[in-house]
Amino acid sequence: MKKAPEKIAPAPSREVAELRARLAEADETLRAIRHGEVDTVMVAGKQGRQVFTLQGAELAYRALIESMNEGALTLTADKTILYANQCFARFVKLPLEQVIGSSFRSFLSVEDSATLRPHMKQAAHSGAKMQMMLHAGDGSLRPVQISVRELAGKNTDAVIIGMVVTDMTEARRTEEMLRALTNRVVQVQEAERGRVALELHDHITQLLCAIGFRSQTLANKLSARDAPAKKEAIALGKLLGGAAEEVERISRHLRPGVLDQLGLNAVLRATSREFTQRTGVAIALTGVELATRLPHDTELALYRVLQEALRNVEQHARAKNVNVSLSQSDGGVQLAIGDDGVGFDPDRRLTKRKGKRGLGLLGMRERANYVGGALTVKSAPRAGTVIKVRIPLVPAA
Ligand SMILES: Nc1ncnc2c1ncn2[C@@H]1O[C@H](COP(=O)(O)OP(=O)(O)OP(=O)(O)O)[C@@H](O)[C@H]1O
Ligand SMILES: [Mg+2]
Repeated sequence: MKKAPEKIAPAPSREVAELRARLAEADETLRAIRHGEVDTVMVAGKQGRQVFTLQGAELAYRALIESMNEGALTLTADKTILYANQCFARFVKLPLEQVIGSSFRSFLSVEDSATLRPHMKQAAHSGAKMQMMLHAGDGSLRPVQISVRELAGKNTDAVIIGMVVTDMTEARRTEEMLRALTNRVVQVQEAERGRVALELHDHITQLLCAIGFRSQTLANKLSARDAPAKKEAIALGKLLGGAAEEVERISRHLRPGVLDQLGLNAVLRATSREFTQRTGVAIALTGVELATRLPHDTELALYRVLQEALRNVEQHARAKNVNVSLSQSDGGVQLAIGDDGVGFDPDRRLTKRKGKRGLGLLGMRERANYVGGALTVKSAPRAGTVIKVRIPLVPAA
């Protein structure tokens, strides 16, 4: 009897069929993630497996989230990404399926990750915003602002955090351009002031002195019989002397050479003395004598702020007393100029000149920003005004 041929096991076997089915399921899951059709994510954590259901996963809502130019995410409390839109995947330059299920911390530096922690806590109560650098899959960095808010989980006790990630690249670029432009304006302004100061000193003052000298000679030549003309010539000489002094004062203000030679303390004293003599408003100068010279740009910025603040006191404040104080602490230098005048509402500071916005306060703020500092204005009607500028001092290398 012929032996029946041995039967070969049917292929695929049951295991292979099972594996195929699981592969197809994984494929389908990936496809669903890619097309934003995932409503539920299972996360294996310390507390075992947890199922997170995405709230409001209707088509219209999803279409809206997917069409945003901001990254939109939902996260667990330990910052595992449950859902991310395509825009966020573009930000981090990774396929969406790689983003979902990963930790949001993997896109941050260690420092940013540490700063995020207290913000997440605050998010539970009121929502929070912060700026940070997003580390993309290809190693590139992107400045972003993230807004975090805890979403109330209706069907689950687990905390879900909603996050919107806004790309700040363009805003940063505009900010940098503005800063560069401001720096250039300040430099050009100083150079122009220097040129005008020199012209005034070299030409106008010299000319006024020469005419003054001539009028004195004329007065000397006139005999006693021409008494009225002689008196007139002497008065003319005095007037010319006064005009020459005034031009010198303007020239000094335009280009404070004495700042380079004597330093900020001396210039603050001289400016205050001159202001009181001219306007009759008393200035109390308080604070420390700075032990060392500050960088030239810092001294110049503080001096320009003082000038502009005193100009405002003279023009607008109707003050009786002014306080000027200079102090150094916590790696920075502060200058405060306070007056007891009429004050104003800083939020509505239109000038009286046809409702035009003045440039003084704006210029002071730019001066402070130029050297990395900040300016604050505290004022209220009938409550005086305090202008404060604080500039950080970078320790010498
Ligand atoms: N010390 C002050 N006391 C009272 N009001 C002030 C004081 N400083 C500023 N202000 C008010 O704020 C407004 C804006 O001041 P800012 O220096 O910016 O412009 P301005 O002095 O009007 O014009 P500009 O400085 O360009 O000549 C002033 O018009 C004035 O109403
Ligand atoms: Mg002004």
